[in-house]
Amino acid sequence: MTILITGASRGIGFSTLKSLVALDAQHKIYVLTRNTQALKDKIEADSQLKTATIEVIPFDLTHFTKEDLLHLWTEVDVLINNSGLLINKPFSELTEADWLAMFQTNVLGAAQLTQSLLPLMGQNGKTSHVVNIGSMGGYQGSSKFAGLSAYSASKGALAILSECLAEELKDKNVKCNCLCLGAVDTDMLQMAFPNYKAPTTSDEMGQFIADFALNGHKYFNGKVLPVSIMTP
Ligand SMILES: NC(=O)c1ccc[n+]([C@@H]2O[C@H](COP(=O)([O-])OP(=O)(O)OC[C@H]3O[C@@H](n4cnc5c(N)ncnc54)[C@H](OP(=O)(O)O)[C@@H]3O)[C@@H](O)[C@H]2O)c1
Repeated sequence: MTILITGASRGIGFSTLKSLVALDAQHKIYVLTRNTQALKDKIEADSQLKTATIEVIPFDLTHFTKEDLLHLWTEVDVLINNSGLLINKPFSELTEADWLAMFQTNVLGAAQLTQSLLPLMGQNGKTSHVVNIGSMGGYQGSSKFAGLSAYSASKGALAILSECLAEELKDKNVKCNCLCLGAVDTDMLQMAFPNYKAPTTSDEMGQFIADFALNGHKYFNGKVLPVSIMTP
């Protein structure tokens, strides 16, 4: 399978990469990241990743064109839109630049990347799966937290986008789902909630996402799924 994942130099993305390799070392995995050297160093330091077929591609969700990407692949079976940006600020202090940065990374970038890769998905009778990494903050009816209004709104938009894409692409062999993650122990969580101890490790969530990315489209399409042991 040809698998693309964005933003996997650290956190949940890197954990997902490790789990994808552990599930099947034969996958061709392309990691789109701004931090190419840091990721290459991590791959080199890991005996399992080192021998897997992983290509690290310099990529910034805020600056790319379709032409930069399309020549790199002939088909895409799985796209994991994992990259995300969180700026924790009271609503009254959020600037236009904060809103634009979060919506560009969390919504528009994921939409543009998916749109760019569509010609390579659902080819030759195979089904492709787009997995958008959302957040419980963007899940309707969940608990909300001060300081996360723009971030949560952007993840809410990503969730609705996932539902729309599933409908619009259903005849093109492309399935799309959104996983709304609860708290996971990463740098991003520490930034949002310093000193909070998350119930889920990055590697645990990476295992779930890797398995879902490979198999979830057999059971789900257009679903916005809460992935959290906390309620509501
Ligand atoms: N941790 C949590 O509790 C939690 C909860 C709910 C949802 N999530 C979501 O889970 C995903 C992973 O988060 P994480 O906790 O692992 O956070 P993280 O450690 O901060 O990692 C975020 C990733 O996003 C990528 N990224 C940010 N801006 C980018 C840009 N302009 N272009 C390309 N990539 C960009 C970074 O990629 P590079 O540095 O590799 O380029 C980084 O690897 C995010 O979508 C986040 O919103 C996390």
